[in-house]
Amino acid sequence: MTEEEYLSFIQPYEDALNNIQVRVDVLNKDYRRKKLNYPIHHVQYRLKQKESIENKLIKNGKAPTVDLARECLTDIAGIRVICYFIRDIYGIIGLLRRQTDIVVIKESDYIENPKPNGYRSYHIVFGVPVYHTDGMEYFPVEVQLRTMAMDLWASMEHRICYKGEKKAEVAAEFINYGAALKQMEEEMEGFLSD
Ligand code: GTP
Ligand code: MG
Repeated sequence: MTEEEYLSFIQPYEDALNNIQVRVDVLNKDYRRKKLNYPIHHVQYRLKQKESIENKLIKNGKAPTVDLARECLTDIAGIRVICYFIRDIYGIIGLLRRQTDIVVIKESDYIENPKPNGYRSYHIVFGVPVYHTDGMEYFPVEVQLRTMAMDLWASMEHRICYKGEKKAEVAAEFINYGAALKQMEEEMEGFLSD
């Protein structure tokens, strides 16, 4: 794909991402008003760069075109919501799900079912309506929700091991770190009064 093709391709994904960002921000502020505390610690977001889209398509045996990117990739727009507690994650998901103008495209609960390496997070891809001059189309936004403990684990594991060759001892240590962090955050959540 050319730079020009990429730039017009990415625009509606950016619009969809902004849309989800606003929804998440509104929920965070409303929670705070009603329950006196923010459920969300911080939010990160990104649009996949041209090279990264091309590389992922090639890795999947596809030609690196905008048509195939639109057809095959659901993580072009991504937002990561880092919460304090596990209950906050399920709370936010429940509230987003109740918003009837967005649709769930797919989801994986890696909190209930962690990956074998110990990765935990909740992934949900929403289809977000974007209105053009010639009508409406849904664009996917991948939302990853995690606690700060899950984010510490995933950030370090990504830096040290993810998609790379690493020694078995390191992988084994990450399983242990994951178990320790899980226990710690469950204990902290247990201190909540309500
Ligand atoms: P990708 O091709 O990486 O997008 O994976 P996928 O389409 O099979 O989706 P999956 O839900 O497994 O992972 C999507 C994203 O979750 C990744 O791009 C990472 O941001 C994150 N992720 C998934 N697994 C791991 C993991 O083992 N370690 C870390 N650090 N991040 C992970
Ligand atoms: Mg991805």
